[in-house]
Amino acid sequence: MCGIVGYVGNKDAYPILIKGLHRLEYRGYDSAGVALINPVGKLNVYKTKGKVAELEHFVTNKDVSGTIGIAHTRWATHGEPSDVNAHPHYSENGQIALIHNGIIENYGVLKTMLMGKGYTFRSDTDTEVLVQFIDYLRNENQCTLFEAVQAALNQVIGAYAIAVLDKDNNNEIIAARKSSPLVIGIGDGEYFLASDATPIVEYVQNVVYLNDGEIAVINRNKPLKIVNLDNIESKIDIRKLEMNISELEKGGYPHFMLKEIFEQPRTITDCIRGRINLEGTEVILSGILDNKDRFLNARRIIFVACGTSWHAGLIGEYLFEDFCGIEVKVEYASEFRYRNPVIHNDDIVIAISQSGETADTLAAIELAKSKGAFVYGICNVVGSSIARATHSGTYIHVGPEIGVASTKAFTGQVTVLVMMAMMIARLKGRIDDAKYREVLKGLLVMPEKIKEALAQHEHIKDVSAIFTYAHNFLYLGRGCNYPTAMEGALKLKEISYIHAEGYPAAEMKHGPIALIDNEMPTIVIATNVSIYEKTISNIQEIKSRGGKVIAVVTTGDSVVSKMADHCIWVPETTECLTPLLSSIPLQLFAYYIAVNKGRDVDQPRNLAKSVTVE
Ligand code: G6P
Repeated sequence: MCGIVGYVGNKDAYPILIKGLHRLEYRGYDSAGVALINPVGKLNVYKTKGKVAELEHFVTNKDVSGTIGIAHTRWATHGEPSDVNAHPHYSENGQIALIHNGIIENYGVLKTMLMGKGYTFRSDTDTEVLVQFIDYLRNENQCTLFEAVQAALNQVIGAYAIAVLDKDNNNEIIAARKSSPLVIGIGDGEYFLASDATPIVEYVQNVVYLNDGEIAVINRNKPLKIVNLDNIESKIDIRKLEMNISELEKGGYPHFMLKEIFEQPRTITDCIRGRINLEGTEVILSGILDNKDRFLNARRIIFVACGTSWHAGLIGEYLFEDFCGIEVKVEYASEFRYRNPVIHNDDIVIAISQSGETADTLAAIELAKSKGAFVYGICNVVGSSIARATHSGTYIHVGPEIGVASTKAFTGQVTVLVMMAMMIARLKGRIDDAKYREVLKGLLVMPEKIKEALAQHEHIKDVSAIFTYAHNFLYLGRGCNYPTAMEGALKLKEISYIHAEGYPAAEMKHGPIALIDNEMPTIVIATNVSIYEKTISNIQEIKSRGGKVIAVVTTGDSVVSKMADHCIWVPETTECLTPLLSSIPLQLFAYYIAVNKGRDVDQPRNLAKSVTVE
């Protein structure tokens, strides 16, 4: 949700900033802009509606010199996507430029006050109010830019990550965060700033993650200084980046999404590495081990998450209730945070988030903590806000996910949930050896099985070609494949803009069956052994009403394959692991349909990968 990049050092800033914006474009892509101070102290601001490529085109033949600059790619909140609403915004006198990720909630009051002082505004944004407010305070208090930013942020209500430049100080960027991420890369006589580490990793390994309420003074001639809103200086906590630059490239694939789908054999291997022993006889997650008593005595587990991560939580519900005998609730973080949920101090709240930055999930965590719950995180991005806000947790370790539609993170989340359920069930003495080993061994061979499922990609492409122009889809599944069906429908909605609904197969009789005709295809996941017969009945109900059925079935299935119009096969596995395989063809199906329709697969309209505003 908006990407921020900044650079100050001894190199030309513009190429670094543009490359950084491309890396962050998955966060938002409706407009982009850059501000640079050139060698003679002129502040040049260029911004335009559209993607980063359009900004590059726009600045052709313009002065992009300078070794200090800030840049932004936007996902609109206040004000439509337009040239004027794009960032950077700058003060009326052209002195200060600012980029912002977040929302300033009290911008209306501040704007009225500033207009009373004679300020005029070019845009509809809350961000322009903030930059003018900083300018006003600086003039009023005759203070430094840092002091003005600090004073402004003490009066601002809302969420922000900002970077600010002063035309008269070409050595310094002021950056600050509250509820929106910022990371600073430390080089030799140079600093990098970004919403996440992806624009930084190719230049430096040493980074500092800003905490909420902190302001950084990033001066090319001085050591990094971080101060909070009350002016107390923070210790500089330098971390090493573990990310690999090749993970940020498409690696020969036409889209990040396809690359990430095909990476899943490796990402599952990375996710289980060092956690399940080679014999498949033991799983150890240090987060569970360190908090063993809490998990053994947990009254309930409450999953909080959004989007795809919420679907993983629904699968967690099946796993934890079945294997661990723990009562589970699965909550949309956005709903949970605005209720007054009953939380006991022996409840465990598990937050699931790929990015670790989703605003609603973060707020749900804070609420749970304030009510005394122990909060566990399942995140992908190392060092992210949620990873740091939770008491303990397990990373999914699937590497950077760039495609807006989540794929490898989902299977990573499910894999972690299976490992957690197995470990807790074992500690509680609720699972016999044979079952425990069957599941762990199933996970060990999962990368090979996912390869087999992926090998069907040409067939899935052919099936997708038949259905590209359907206007609606129904996705059905039962048991732990009901959430998988919802996830499959979400993939299709997100990237092909086709309406799709995921439903528990038996529930179809209570409404959706009325929609069935030969123009409404249904995708049925029929890989669960325990409720196989019931799923067959559901397929018959659709067929007898003239509906077209695409079935995801286990290799060797000879019953469904005779009834369904099209079958997609996945290898056999133990039941609780079937979502890891049945989700693969659904990801590919959505992908190929979107490609057939000419959609922007990696950056679908209106969506952002990391939703840092509520
Ligand atoms: C956005 C993304 C989804 C993601 C959801 C939750 O909507 O587009 O792909 O599932 O946020 O994100 P998180 O990073 O918390 O898993």
